[in-house]
Amino acid sequence: MNRRNFLKTGLGAAAVGALPMSLVEIAWGAKDEERFTFAYISDSHITHVRGNEFVRNWDRGLIRAVAECNLLDPRPDFVVYGGDIAQLGKPEEIDHGLEILSGLRDKVYYVMGEHDYYVDLGDYWRKRLGPDWYAFDHKGVHFIVLNSILTYSEWTHKKWESGMARMKEMARLDNPNGSPFMVGEEQRKWLAQDLAKVDRDTPIVVCSHSPLQKIYKGWNFWTEDAEEIHKLLAPFKKVTVIYGHVHQIQYNQIGNISFYAVMATAWPWPYPNTYALAESHLPKLTVPMNRADPFFERDATGWQLIDVHSGRVDTHYFLPDNTNRSVVFDEKRGHPVDTRYQAVAARIPPQQHY
Ligand SMILES: [Fe+2]
Ligand SMILES: [Fe+2]
Repeated sequence: MNRRNFLKTGLGAAAVGALPMSLVEIAWGAKDEERFTFAYISDSHITHVRGNEFVRNWDRGLIRAVAECNLLDPRPDFVVYGGDIAQLGKPEEIDHGLEILSGLRDKVYYVMGEHDYYVDLGDYWRKRLGPDWYAFDHKGVHFIVLNSILTYSEWTHKKWESGMARMKEMARLDNPNGSPFMVGEEQRKWLAQDLAKVDRDTPIVVCSHSPLQKIYKGWNFWTEDAEEIHKLLAPFKKVTVIYGHVHQIQYNQIGNISFYAVMATAWPWPYPNTYALAESHLPKLTVPMNRADPFFERDATGWQLIDVHSGRVDTHYFLPDNTNRSVVFDEKRGHPVDTRYQAVAARIPPQQHY
C-alpha cells in the first residue's frame, strides 16, 4: 500500500479503532518520495498518588496512544511529544510517563509543558530529555521546538516559598496569581539566529506547548510575546505552528502562519466560549465540536493524522468517544478549514451542560 492509499484507508480504519495520538504527513514538491509522516502525542498529565500508584485514567490515555502509535504501518518517521507529561512535574511522574513512552518504536522529540517545568524550572525534565529548545531538519522541512511556557522572572523567582507552591499556582485555570506564558528574549534571540540560516522557501514547522497566539489569557491559552515570534517567522512562505496545552481542537490562520492544536491523552478542557464568565477569544475559524461530557473518560481526547501538502499541514483528528474531524489547509482560501463542519448549517450544536 502506498502512502496515499494508506492515508485514505487510514481514515476509515482509524474510525473503527481510533488511535489517541497524532500522525503527521508532510509532503511538498512533486515527488512522492519526499513525503513523510510523524505522530503527535501530548498532554498526558501523569499524576502521582502515593508510592507506585498513579491516576489510572491518565496512565491509560498515554498507554493507549503508545500502543496504537506502534501499530502504524507504514511507520511514522518520528514522534513529537507536545508537553505536560507530568501533572506536578515530580520526578516520579516524569519517570513514569517516560517509561510508558519508552514503549514507542520511534524516535521522540519532546516539548516542555508548564506542568513539567514550574516545580524545579525544568531541571529534572532536562536531565532526562536534554535541551528544551532546539531545531532540526527532516527531509527538507525545518522543525523548531520552543519552550513557550516561560514567564516574567519576577514571578518565577521572587514570589514563592517553594517550587511546588509555584507549580500549583501555574497549574490552575482562572488564577489571578498566575502569570502569562512567553518564549522570552533569550530564546527569541536564538530563534532569530536559527532562522537566519534557513532558506525562505523552506517549510517551517514550529512545535510549542502554548498556542503562540492570544486566545484566552485567564487560562493561559496565550503567549505574551506571540507577535514578536510572528515577526521572526514572517519572511517564510509556509509556516505551521502545532501546539498542545489547550487539550482541544483549535485552528487558526494569522498572516503566513497556520495554527493547529492537538488533543490531550488525559482530558479535554472546555472551549473558552463555553465558559459563562469569559469573553470568547476562540479563533474565528475554529468550529467547536460537540463535546465534552466529563463523565466519558475518553471524550474529546485522541490523536491527529496530519497530512501536509506542498509544505502545508492538514490535520485529521481521531477521537475514540466522539466524531472524527478533519481540518485541512485550503489553498484557495489560504487557511485551515473543517472539511465537514465549517458551514454553519452543518454544525452539531455544542453541549450546554457542564
Ligand atoms: Fe496540559
Ligand atoms: Fe499545559
